Amino acid sequence: MSNNNVLWWERDGLGYDGDGRLLVAGRDVATLARASGGIPLYLYDGARVEGNIARLRNALSNAQLRHRLFYAMKSNRFMPLLSMMKSRGLCGIDACSPREVVRARQCGFEGSEISFTATSLSNDDLRAITCHQGLIINCDSLSSIRRLAALGYCGRIGIRINPGTGIGYSDNDRLRYAGAEKPTKFGIYLEEFPAALELAKEIGLEVNGLHFHAGCGFLTPQLDQLERVFTRVQAFLALVPNVEYIDIGGGLGIPLVESDAPLDLELWAATVARHFGNTEAEIWVEPGDYIGKDAGVLVLQVNTVEQKSGHTFVGVNGGFNIHIEPAFYDLPLEIVPVRLGPNQKSVLASSSGTRVTVAGNINEALDIFAEDLPLPTIREGDLLALLNSGGYGSSMSSNHCMRGEYLEQLII
Ligand SMILES: Cc1ncc(COP(=O)(O)O)c(C=O)c1O
Repeated sequence: MSNNNVLWWERDGLGYDGDGRLLVAGRDVATLARASGGIPLYLYDGARVEGNIARLRNALSNAQLRHRLFYAMKSNRFMPLLSMMKSRGLCGIDACSPREVVRARQCGFEGSEISFTATSLSNDDLRAITCHQGLIINCDSLSSIRRLAALGYCGRIGIRINPGTGIGYSDNDRLRYAGAEKPTKFGIYLEEFPAALELAKEIGLEVNGLHFHAGCGFLTPQLDQLERVFTRVQAFLALVPNVEYIDIGGGLGIPLVESDAPLDLELWAATVARHFGNTEAEIWVEPGDYIGKDAGVLVLQVNTVEQKSGHTFVGVNGGFNIHIEPAFYDLPLEIVPVRLGPNQKSVLASSSGTRVTVAGNINEALDIFAEDLPLPTIREGDLLALLNSGGYGSSMSSNHCMRGEYLEQLII
Protein backbone atom coordinates (compact mmCIF):
# COMPACT_ATOMS: atom_id res chain seq x y z
CA MET A 1 0.00 0.00 0.00
CA SER A 2 2.68 2.44 0.98
CA ASN A 3 6.33 2.82 1.42
CA ASN A 4 7.32 4.74 4.54
CA ASN A 5 3.84 6.20 4.48
CA VAL A 6 4.40 7.74 1.08
CA LEU A 7 1.01 7.74 -0.56
CA TRP A 8 0.86 6.52 -4.14
CA TRP A 9 -0.19 9.88 -5.51
CA GLU A 10 2.37 11.99 -3.63
CA ARG A 11 5.09 13.62 -5.69
CA ASP A 12 7.12 16.82 -5.77
CA GLY A 13 4.82 19.66 -4.80
CA LEU A 14 1.83 17.43 -3.98
CA GLY A 15 1.52 15.65 -0.66
CA TYR A 16 1.56 16.10 3.10
CA ASP A 17 4.23 17.98 4.97
CA GLY A 18 5.54 16.82 8.35
CA ASP A 19 2.68 18.60 10.11
CA GLY A 20 -0.03 16.84 8.13
CA ARG A 21 -0.78 19.79 5.87
CA LEU A 22 -1.74 18.95 2.30
CA LEU A 23 0.40 20.87 -0.17
CA VAL A 24 -0.44 21.58 -3.80
CA ALA A 25 2.30 23.19 -5.86
CA GLY A 26 4.20 23.21 -2.58
CA ARG A 27 1.61 25.48 -0.98
CA ASP A 28 -0.63 24.78 2.00
CA VAL A 29 -4.09 24.06 0.64
CA ALA A 30 -5.94 25.15 3.79
CA THR A 31 -4.22 28.54 3.70
CA LEU A 32 -4.91 28.92 -0.03
CA ALA A 33 -8.56 28.04 0.57
CA ARG A 34 -8.87 30.59 3.38
CA ALA A 35 -7.23 33.28 1.29
CA SER A 36 -9.30 32.53 -1.81
CA GLY A 37 -12.49 33.70 -0.16
CA GLY A 38 -14.55 30.71 -1.17
CA ILE A 39 -14.98 27.00 -1.42
CA PRO A 40 -15.55 25.01 -3.70
CA LEU A 41 -12.11 25.89 -5.00
CA TYR A 42 -10.16 24.40 -7.87
CA LEU A 43 -6.39 24.73 -7.49
CA TYR A 44 -4.07 24.16 -10.44
CA ASP A 45 -0.31 23.64 -10.27
CA GLY A 46 1.28 25.53 -13.19
CA ALA A 47 4.65 23.82 -12.78
CA ARG A 48 3.03 20.39 -13.02
CA VAL A 49 1.29 21.40 -16.26
CA GLU A 50 4.60 22.57 -17.66
CA GLY A 51 6.32 19.37 -16.51
CA ASN A 52 3.66 17.17 -18.09
CA ILE A 53 4.06 18.96 -21.41
CA ALA A 54 7.85 18.72 -21.25
CA ARG A 55 7.69 14.97 -20.54
CA LEU A 56 5.39 14.40 -23.48
CA ARG A 57 7.51 16.44 -25.85
CA ASN A 58 10.67 14.67 -24.71
CA ALA A 59 9.16 11.27 -25.43
CA LEU A 60 8.17 12.35 -28.93
CA SER A 61 11.57 13.91 -29.58
CA ASN A 62 13.39 10.84 -28.25
CA ALA A 63 11.41 8.76 -30.74
CA GLN A 64 12.67 11.11 -33.50
CA LEU A 65 9.17 12.32 -34.23
CA ARG A 66 8.70 15.80 -35.70
CA HIS A 67 5.67 16.95 -33.80
CA ARG A 68 3.31 19.71 -32.73
CA LEU A 69 1.40 19.72 -29.47
CA PHE A 70 -2.06 21.24 -29.11
CA TYR A 71 -3.62 21.36 -25.65
CA ALA A 72 -7.26 20.17 -25.71
CA MET A 73 -8.83 23.15 -23.95
CA LYS A 74 -12.12 21.29 -23.54
CA SER A 75 -10.46 19.63 -20.57
CA ASN A 76 -9.86 22.93 -18.78
CA ARG A 77 -10.40 26.38 -20.28
CA PHE A 78 -9.43 28.48 -17.23
CA MET A 79 -8.04 31.62 -18.83
CA PRO A 80 -4.95 32.05 -16.62
CA LEU A 81 -3.97 28.49 -17.53
CA LEU A 82 -4.34 29.14 -21.26
CA SER A 83 -2.53 32.47 -20.94
CA MET A 84 0.34 30.78 -19.12
CA MET A 85 0.62 28.21 -21.90
CA LYS A 86 0.70 30.96 -24.51
CA SER A 87 3.11 33.25 -22.72
CA ARG A 88 5.54 30.41 -22.06
CA GLY A 89 5.19 29.05 -25.60
CA LEU A 90 4.26 25.61 -24.29
CA CYS A 91 1.83 24.46 -26.98
CA GLY A 92 -0.94 25.32 -29.40
CA ILE A 93 -4.65 24.79 -28.72
CA ASP A 94 -7.10 22.13 -29.77
CA ALA A 95 -10.53 23.75 -29.82
CA CYS A 96 -13.88 22.04 -30.36
CA SER A 97 -16.33 24.93 -30.62
CA PRO A 98 -16.35 28.48 -31.99
CA ARG A 99 -16.50 29.87 -28.45
CA GLU A 100 -13.41 27.90 -27.50
CA VAL A 101 -11.60 29.41 -30.47
CA VAL A 102 -12.57 32.89 -29.29
CA ARG A 103 -11.34 32.14 -25.78
CA ALA A 104 -8.03 30.84 -27.10
CA ARG A 105 -7.68 34.01 -29.18
CA GLN A 106 -8.46 36.11 -26.08
CA CYS A 107 -5.57 34.37 -24.37
CA GLY A 108 -3.23 35.36 -27.17
CA PHE A 109 -3.19 32.34 -29.50
CA GLU A 110 -3.06 33.09 -33.24
CA GLY A 111 -5.46 31.29 -35.58
CA SER A 112 -2.55 29.28 -36.93
CA GLU A 113 -1.81 28.00 -33.42
CA ILE A 114 -5.30 26.58 -33.04
CA SER A 115 -6.46 23.25 -34.42
CA PHE A 116 -10.25 23.08 -34.64
CA THR A 117 -12.01 19.72 -34.61
CA ALA A 118 -15.69 19.66 -33.80
CA THR A 119 -18.83 17.73 -34.54
CA SER A 120 -22.43 18.47 -35.63
CA LEU A 121 -21.45 21.93 -36.83
CA SER A 122 -24.14 24.40 -37.84
CA ASN A 123 -23.67 26.90 -40.63
CA ASP A 124 -23.35 29.61 -37.97
CA ASP A 125 -20.54 27.60 -36.36
CA LEU A 126 -18.80 27.25 -39.72
CA ARG A 127 -19.22 30.95 -40.50
CA ALA A 128 -17.74 31.82 -37.10
CA ILE A 129 -14.64 29.70 -37.47
CA THR A 130 -13.85 30.96 -40.96
CA CYS A 131 -13.40 34.43 -39.44
CA HIS A 132 -10.15 33.33 -37.80
CA GLN A 133 -7.30 33.61 -40.24
CA GLY A 134 -4.99 30.66 -40.38
CA LEU A 135 -7.19 28.44 -38.19
CA ILE A 136 -6.51 24.75 -38.81
CA ILE A 137 -9.82 23.05 -39.57
CA ASN A 138 -10.47 19.31 -39.38
CA CYS A 139 -13.84 18.26 -40.83
CA ASP A 140 -15.59 15.21 -39.41
CA SER A 141 -18.37 14.79 -41.99
CA LEU A 142 -19.07 15.17 -45.69
CA SER A 143 -21.79 17.60 -44.74
CA SER A 144 -19.37 19.98 -43.02
CA ILE A 145 -16.92 19.78 -45.94
CA ARG A 146 -19.71 20.65 -48.37
CA ARG A 147 -21.11 23.49 -46.27
CA LEU A 148 -17.70 24.93 -45.44
CA ALA A 149 -16.98 25.30 -49.16
CA ALA A 150 -20.46 26.69 -49.81
CA LEU A 151 -19.70 29.45 -47.31
CA GLY A 152 -16.75 30.50 -49.42
CA TYR A 153 -13.96 28.81 -47.49
CA CYS A 154 -11.14 27.81 -49.75
CA GLY A 155 -7.81 26.34 -48.91
CA ARG A 156 -6.83 23.35 -46.86
CA ILE A 157 -8.62 21.07 -44.47
CA GLY A 158 -7.83 18.04 -42.40
CA ILE A 159 -10.28 15.18 -42.24
CA ARG A 160 -11.23 13.53 -38.99
CA ILE A 161 -11.49 9.82 -39.59
CA ASN A 162 -13.03 7.05 -37.55
CA PRO A 163 -10.67 4.11 -37.35
CA GLY A 164 -13.54 1.81 -36.35
CA THR A 165 -11.94 0.69 -33.13
CA GLY A 166 -11.62 2.54 -29.85
CA ILE A 167 -9.63 2.80 -26.66
CA GLY A 168 -10.32 3.96 -23.12
CA TYR A 169 -9.25 3.96 -19.47
CA SER A 170 -9.30 0.47 -18.05
CA ASP A 171 -11.24 -0.70 -21.11
CA ASN A 172 -14.09 1.60 -20.10
CA ASP A 173 -16.51 1.52 -23.05
CA ARG A 174 -17.96 4.89 -22.19
CA LEU A 175 -14.65 6.54 -23.01
CA ARG A 176 -14.31 5.08 -26.49
CA TYR A 177 -14.80 7.52 -29.32
CA ALA A 178 -14.65 4.98 -32.09
CA GLY A 179 -15.82 1.46 -32.48
CA ALA A 180 -16.96 -1.05 -35.03
CA GLU A 181 -19.56 -2.73 -32.81
CA LYS A 182 -21.70 0.38 -32.68
CA PRO A 183 -20.89 3.27 -35.03
CA THR A 184 -20.01 6.50 -33.25
CA LYS A 185 -20.65 10.03 -34.45
CA PHE A 186 -16.98 10.93 -34.61
CA GLY A 187 -15.19 11.17 -37.92
CA ILE A 188 -15.54 9.59 -41.32
CA TYR A 189 -15.37 5.79 -41.62
CA LEU A 190 -13.22 4.07 -44.19
CA GLU A 191 -16.20 3.22 -46.40
CA GLU A 192 -17.13 6.90 -46.74
CA PHE A 193 -13.56 8.22 -46.86
CA PRO A 194 -13.06 7.99 -50.67
CA ALA A 195 -16.31 9.94 -51.16
CA ALA A 196 -15.09 12.60 -48.72
CA LEU A 197 -11.82 12.95 -50.62
CA GLU A 198 -13.67 13.09 -53.93
CA LEU A 199 -15.99 15.77 -52.57
CA ALA A 200 -13.11 17.87 -51.24
CA LYS A 201 -11.38 17.63 -54.63
CA GLU A 202 -14.53 18.54 -56.53
CA ILE A 203 -15.08 21.69 -54.51
CA GLY A 204 -11.46 22.73 -54.49
CA LEU A 205 -10.40 21.97 -50.93
CA GLU A 206 -7.00 20.44 -50.43
CA VAL A 207 -6.84 17.69 -47.79
CA ASN A 208 -3.53 18.20 -46.00
CA GLY A 209 -4.18 16.45 -42.70
CA LEU A 210 -5.55 13.30 -41.18
CA HIS A 211 -7.06 13.43 -37.71
CA PHE A 212 -8.38 10.81 -35.31
CA HIS A 213 -9.08 10.51 -31.61
CA ALA A 214 -10.16 7.06 -30.53
CA GLY A 215 -10.81 7.45 -26.80
CA CYS A 216 -9.69 8.78 -23.44
CA GLY A 217 -7.62 7.75 -20.46
CA PHE A 218 -5.52 4.95 -21.88
CA LEU A 219 -2.52 3.67 -19.93
CA THR A 220 0.21 1.17 -20.81
CA PRO A 221 -2.06 -1.93 -20.72
CA GLN A 222 -4.19 -0.36 -23.44
CA LEU A 223 -1.31 0.31 -25.84
CA ASP A 224 -2.08 -2.85 -27.79
CA GLN A 225 -5.48 -1.33 -28.55
CA LEU A 226 -3.76 1.84 -29.68
CA GLU A 227 -1.67 -0.35 -31.93
CA ARG A 228 -4.92 -1.67 -33.47
CA VAL A 229 -6.18 1.88 -33.95
CA PHE A 230 -2.93 2.88 -35.68
CA THR A 231 -3.06 -0.20 -37.89
CA ARG A 232 -6.56 0.70 -39.04
CA VAL A 233 -5.41 4.22 -39.87
CA GLN A 234 -2.95 2.90 -42.44
CA ALA A 235 -5.76 2.18 -44.93
CA PHE A 236 -6.83 5.83 -44.73
CA LEU A 237 -3.27 7.04 -45.01
CA ALA A 238 -2.77 4.96 -48.15
CA LEU A 239 -5.44 7.12 -49.82
CA VAL A 240 -3.77 10.40 -48.76
CA PRO A 241 -0.08 9.50 -48.52
CA ASN A 242 1.14 13.08 -48.80
CA VAL A 243 -0.67 14.71 -45.90
CA GLU A 244 1.37 17.27 -43.99
CA TYR A 245 0.17 16.18 -40.57
CA ILE A 246 -1.28 13.18 -38.84
CA ASP A 247 -3.12 14.28 -35.73
CA ILE A 248 -3.33 11.28 -33.42
CA GLY A 249 -5.65 13.04 -30.95
CA GLY A 250 -5.29 12.88 -27.19
CA GLY A 251 -6.47 10.20 -24.80
CA LEU A 252 -3.27 9.69 -22.80
CA GLY A 253 -4.30 8.82 -19.28
CA ILE A 254 -2.96 9.25 -15.78
CA PRO A 255 -3.16 6.86 -12.82
CA LEU A 256 -6.46 7.25 -11.00
CA VAL A 257 -5.99 4.50 -8.42
CA GLU A 258 -2.98 2.98 -6.71
CA SER A 259 -2.92 -0.04 -8.99
CA ASP A 260 -2.62 2.11 -12.13
CA ALA A 261 0.97 2.55 -13.29
CA PRO A 262 1.81 5.79 -15.10
CA LEU A 263 1.61 5.55 -18.89
CA ASP A 264 4.93 4.44 -20.34
CA LEU A 265 5.48 7.46 -22.55
CA GLU A 266 8.56 6.06 -24.26
CA LEU A 267 6.60 2.95 -25.25
CA TRP A 268 3.71 5.11 -26.43
CA ALA A 269 6.02 7.29 -28.52
CA ALA A 270 7.77 4.22 -29.92
CA THR A 271 4.35 2.85 -30.95
CA VAL A 272 3.58 6.11 -32.72
CA ALA A 273 6.97 6.08 -34.42
CA ARG A 274 6.59 2.47 -35.55
CA HIS A 275 3.35 3.29 -37.37
CA PHE A 276 3.92 6.81 -38.60
CA GLY A 277 7.62 7.54 -38.26
CA ASN A 278 8.34 6.63 -41.86
CA THR A 279 5.93 9.18 -43.34
CA GLU A 280 6.81 12.74 -44.27
CA ALA A 281 3.94 13.97 -42.13
CA GLU A 282 4.42 15.82 -38.88
CA ILE A 283 2.83 14.09 -35.88
CA TRP A 284 0.32 16.21 -34.02
CA VAL A 285 -1.04 15.35 -30.59
CA GLU A 286 -3.85 17.05 -28.71
CA PRO A 287 -4.00 15.78 -25.14
CA GLY A 288 -6.10 17.37 -22.43
CA ASP A 289 -6.10 15.08 -19.43
CA TYR A 290 -2.44 14.18 -19.58
CA ILE A 291 -1.53 17.85 -19.34
CA GLY A 292 -3.87 19.13 -16.69
CA LYS A 293 -5.71 16.41 -14.81
CA ASP A 294 -3.12 15.57 -12.17
CA ALA A 295 -2.22 19.25 -11.83
CA GLY A 296 -5.57 20.09 -10.25
CA VAL A 297 -7.46 19.43 -7.03
CA LEU A 298 -10.95 20.44 -6.02
CA VAL A 299 -11.28 21.56 -2.42
CA LEU A 300 -14.64 21.03 -0.73
CA GLN A 301 -15.82 21.55 2.82
CA VAL A 302 -17.54 18.88 4.89
CA ASN A 303 -20.82 20.08 6.32
CA THR A 304 -22.42 16.82 7.44
CA VAL A 305 -21.10 13.64 9.03
CA GLU A 306 -23.85 11.23 9.85
CA GLN A 307 -24.71 7.55 10.11
CA LYS A 308 -27.53 6.42 7.88
CA SER A 309 -28.58 2.83 8.07
CA GLY A 310 -25.15 1.67 9.16
CA HIS A 311 -23.22 3.78 6.64
CA THR A 312 -21.19 6.89 7.37
CA PHE A 313 -22.18 9.69 5.02
CA VAL A 314 -19.86 12.67 4.61
CA GLY A 315 -21.73 15.55 2.99
CA VAL A 316 -19.74 18.27 1.23
CA ASN A 317 -20.54 21.76 -0.04
CA GLY A 318 -20.24 20.97 -3.74
CA GLY A 319 -21.97 18.48 -5.96
CA PHE A 320 -21.34 16.35 -8.99
CA ASN A 321 -22.51 19.23 -11.14
CA ILE A 322 -19.20 21.03 -10.55
CA HIS A 323 -17.17 17.87 -11.12
CA ILE A 324 -19.31 15.44 -13.04
CA GLU A 325 -16.72 13.36 -14.87
CA PRO A 326 -16.35 10.59 -12.27
CA ALA A 327 -20.11 9.97 -12.14
CA PHE A 328 -20.54 10.49 -15.86
CA TYR A 329 -17.88 8.02 -16.90
CA ASP A 330 -17.86 5.86 -13.79
CA LEU A 331 -14.26 6.78 -12.95
CA PRO A 332 -12.60 6.36 -9.56
CA LEU A 333 -11.76 9.49 -7.60
CA GLU A 334 -9.10 9.81 -4.90
CA ILE A 335 -10.32 11.98 -2.03
CA VAL A 336 -8.09 12.97 0.87
CA PRO A 337 -8.26 15.26 3.91
CA VAL A 338 -6.62 18.66 3.62
CA ARG A 339 -5.30 18.30 7.18
CA LEU A 340 -4.15 15.09 8.86
CA GLY A 341 -3.91 14.71 12.60
CA PRO A 342 -1.07 12.85 14.32
CA ASN A 343 -0.78 9.24 13.04
CA GLN A 344 -3.53 9.76 10.50
CA LYS A 345 -1.19 9.43 7.55
CA SER A 346 -0.61 5.81 8.37
CA VAL A 347 -4.38 5.33 8.59
CA LEU A 348 -4.68 6.81 5.12
CA ALA A 349 -1.74 4.82 3.80
CA SER A 350 -3.02 1.53 5.14
CA SER A 351 -6.64 2.20 4.09
CA SER A 352 -7.62 1.28 7.62
CA GLY A 353 -9.90 4.25 8.30
CA THR A 354 -13.67 4.32 8.56
CA ARG A 355 -15.35 3.53 5.27
CA VAL A 356 -17.45 6.48 4.21
CA THR A 357 -19.62 7.69 1.37
CA VAL A 358 -18.73 11.19 0.20
CA ALA A 359 -21.92 12.82 -1.04
CA GLY A 360 -22.47 16.16 -2.76
CA ASN A 361 -25.16 18.79 -2.19
CA ILE A 362 -27.29 18.10 -5.25
CA ASN A 363 -30.67 16.39 -5.13
CA GLU A 364 -29.76 13.59 -7.48
CA ALA A 365 -29.06 9.99 -6.60
CA LEU A 366 -25.92 10.02 -8.79
CA ASP A 367 -24.40 12.81 -6.73
CA ILE A 368 -21.88 10.64 -4.90
CA PHE A 369 -18.14 11.34 -5.19
CA ALA A 370 -16.96 8.12 -3.57
CA GLU A 371 -18.33 5.07 -1.78
CA ASP A 372 -16.64 2.77 0.67
CA LEU A 373 -13.74 5.21 0.93
CA PRO A 374 -11.44 4.55 3.90
CA LEU A 375 -10.66 7.89 5.57
CA PRO A 376 -9.26 8.93 8.94
CA THR A 377 -11.85 10.51 11.22
CA ILE A 378 -13.60 13.33 9.42
CA ARG A 379 -15.45 16.11 11.22
CA GLU A 380 -17.95 18.69 10.06
CA GLY A 381 -16.00 21.77 8.94
CA ASP A 382 -13.00 19.77 7.64
CA LEU A 383 -11.74 20.30 4.12
CA LEU A 384 -11.35 17.50 1.60
CA ALA A 385 -9.34 17.54 -1.61
CA LEU A 386 -10.52 15.66 -4.69
CA LEU A 387 -7.31 14.78 -6.51
CA ASN A 388 -6.83 14.58 -10.28
CA SER A 389 -9.52 17.17 -10.85
CA GLY A 390 -7.61 19.47 -13.19
CA GLY A 391 -9.15 17.97 -16.33
CA TYR A 392 -12.86 17.73 -17.14
CA GLY A 393 -13.73 19.20 -13.74
CA SER A 394 -14.62 22.88 -14.00
CA SER A 395 -14.97 22.64 -17.79
CA MET A 396 -17.87 20.19 -17.52
CA SER A 397 -19.64 21.95 -14.67
CA SER A 398 -23.24 23.09 -14.75
CA ASN A 399 -25.50 25.25 -12.65
CA HIS A 400 -27.78 22.37 -11.74
CA CYS A 401 -29.86 23.19 -8.63
CA MET A 402 -28.33 26.68 -8.93
CA ARG A 403 -25.27 25.36 -7.15
CA GLY A 404 -22.82 25.93 -9.98
CA GLU A 405 -20.48 28.34 -8.23
CA TYR A 406 -16.82 27.65 -7.53
CA LEU A 407 -13.54 29.50 -7.63
CA GLU A 408 -10.38 28.62 -9.53
CA GLN A 409 -6.77 29.52 -8.91
CA LEU A 410 -3.63 28.83 -10.89
CA ILE A 411 -0.49 28.63 -8.79
CA ILE A 412 2.59 29.69 -10.71
C1 LIG B 1 -10.99 15.41 -30.77
C2 LIG B 1 -10.42 15.36 -29.40
N1 LIG B 1 -9.14 15.64 -29.23
C3 LIG B 1 -8.56 15.61 -28.01
C4 LIG B 1 -9.30 15.30 -26.90
C5 LIG B 1 -8.62 15.29 -25.57
O1 LIG B 1 -8.72 14.08 -24.95
P1 LIG B 1 -7.93 13.77 -23.60
O2 LIG B 1 -8.29 14.83 -22.64
O3 LIG B 1 -8.40 12.45 -23.18
O4 LIG B 1 -6.49 13.78 -23.93
C6 LIG B 1 -10.65 14.99 -27.04
C7 LIG B 1 -11.43 14.61 -25.87
O5 LIG B 1 -12.50 14.14 -25.88
C8 LIG B 1 -11.24 15.02 -28.32
O6 LIG B 1 -12.52 14.75 -28.50
